[in-house]
Amino acid sequence: MTMHALIVDPGAPASLRLATTPEPQPAPHQALLEVRHISLNRGEIAFAARQPPGTVHGYDAAGIVIRPAADGTGPAAGTRVAAFGPHAWAQYMAADTGALAEVPAHVDLVHAAALPMAGITALRTLRAQPLLGRRVLITGAAGGVGRYAVQLAAIGGAHVIASVGSAERAGGLTALGAHDVVIGLQGIDEPVDLILDNVGGPQLAAAWDLLAPGGSVQNIGWASDEPAVFAPYSLFHIGPPKTMTTFGDTRRPGPDLLTLLNFVAAGRLSPEVDWRGSWKRVTEAAQALLERRIAGKAVLDIEQPTGRQ
Ligand SMILES: NC(=O)c1ccc[n+]([C@@H]2O[C@H](COP(=O)([O-])OP(=O)(O)OC[C@H]3O[C@@H](n4cnc5c(N)ncnc54)[C@H](OP(=O)(O)O)[C@@H]3O)[C@@H](O)[C@H]2O)c1
Repeated sequence: MTMHALIVDPGAPASLRLATTPEPQPAPHQALLEVRHISLNRGEIAFAARQPPGTVHGYDAAGIVIRPAADGTGPAAGTRVAAFGPHAWAQYMAADTGALAEVPAHVDLVHAAALPMAGITALRTLRAQPLLGRRVLITGAAGGVGRYAVQLAAIGGAHVIASVGSAERAGGLTALGAHDVVIGLQGIDEPVDLILDNVGGPQLAAAWDLLAPGGSVQNIGWASDEPAVFAPYSLFHIGPPKTMTTFGDTRRPGPDLLTLLNFVAAGRLSPEVDWRGSWKRVTEAAQALLERRIAGKAVLDIEQPTGRQ
């Protein structure tokens, strides 16, 4: 059987093309989903061409289980789920049951699709540190990861400093829980305990100097695409060590995805869907994301053939 999917094509705009491709064959620990909505992440768009041509692309999806896993794990047929795993941007996705979470009754699948990669990244990087009363700087705060990080850091009791690239990108961040919204690093006049850095480049090198003794930088991403240059000895520090840590932990995301969905269900976390349209408009959405015109997430709707069950 075949299906439609967004596959990698280095010659196509955004290196993605809607094409016909074989349906996935789930492994015993995988459920088969009918995908209803997907969301885009900067890294997937920026680096799509690094995947082999023809690969079904994407990680974030929400839909309905149409065939439960053969090993008996995971949700039953008919369950509404969010999924975080490879080959998600397709009509059908074979997803590890450990990467699925049931979507609470009152949460829209559109919102569920906006959560996985950005939400789990924000949750896991913040959870690695104490937050209560700490000063937390979030760079790229207007973006997908950033808007979740602002909200989750505020839930955790931090003093949240949201950094954006321009005044136009500051909108809505105070309402999401930011105590201070700054442009670049301007006006941060006290040390910070934790930096969640989505931007990299010269701003990362400058942010290091704002870090309190014992503080840490979680380097999540490098949206600036520019090098960071640290002057000789500028990392040296007397007293409790300052640290910089990388992040890329995608293991068994299901339980954390459920945590995020429950926050949404409780009205404590806003999914921040700023762009929505058919997956036929993927090029338009990808361009808007790369050009920093999306405040939060872009969610695409998947057209499904009728009559399949
Ligand atoms: N390590 C991981 O597992 C992981 C997971 C998810 C994402 N990431 C990475 O984390 C970063 C953020 O991801 P995202 O999905 O939140 O991306 P996004 O929605 O595109 O947000 C990126 C933010 O970076 C800011 N930015 C500052 N300088 C920029 C520049 N020169 N070019 C582009 N953006 C710039 C933008 O700020 P303004 O809006 O204020 O202009 C934008 O809000 C990306 O590098 C992504 O690849 C890593």
